[in-house]
Amino acid sequence: MKEKRIKIIKDGPYLVGGNIPLAKEKITEDEKGYLLKWEKIADFPKQETHSLCRCGESKNAPFCDGAHMKASCDLIETADNASLKSRAEKIEGEELVLFDVPKLCAAGHFCTRAGGAWDLVRTKSDDPEKNKIAIQEACDCPSGRLVMVDKKTGQEIEPGFEPSISVVEDEVAGVSGPIWVKGKIQIEGSDGTLYELRNRVALCRCGQSNNKPFCDGSHIAVRFSDNQNI
Ligand code: FES
Repeated sequence: MKEKRIKIIKDGPYLVGGNIPLAKEKITEDEKGYLLKWEKIADFPKQETHSLCRCGESKNAPFCDGAHMKASCDLIETADNASLKSRAEKIEGEELVLFDVPKLCAAGHFCTRAGGAWDLVRTKSDDPEKNKIAIQEACDCPSGRLVMVDKKTGQEIEPGFEPSISVVEDEVAGVSGPIWVKGKIQIEGSDGTLYELRNRVALCRCGQSNNKPFCDGSHIAVRFSDNQNI
């Protein structure tokens, strides 16, 4: 597979093609335990193609080792494939509009600082930092649940990602998180359906999401189960 693409294999892994860089990033926090930050902790050797586990049972995570053949979880894709904006809740402020699809929440918790992205957008204030924090919170959201739009221009305010993938370790919650897909990499469902091309997407890798292939934060619950492989 030369093209940069993630192909979902029925009842199996994510087949990643096109020599896409793969890294490991962790969610960490500042010295006051307040500001959440992304920090890269490893780069994996580049491979033309590889398979990433989506059942959460591989002993060679984040790569597939065939354990899905005996996995207990159901890997059927159930996510709505309508465009994000067509199904998002719209929060309008004076200068910003926030689009929100809660079902896509990957529990990164970047959006809760300083009252949360929603209130920061809604609240009238002369504080120049307010919009800056709201934009940062939306842009740090790995799943792209939150998309910020400049009200005047109608343009999305997005981080400039190159096509790349990171497996997430959530140091704050003490659990492994989703597969963070950046830079508009096409994701193809097991039946050939093409998901909306987006700058930020979080894919489930614990096998427990109720919105597959996307993460819905269920890995937080997996921490308390006996599945330690992801
Ligand atoms: S998808 Fe193959 S081991 Fe998990």
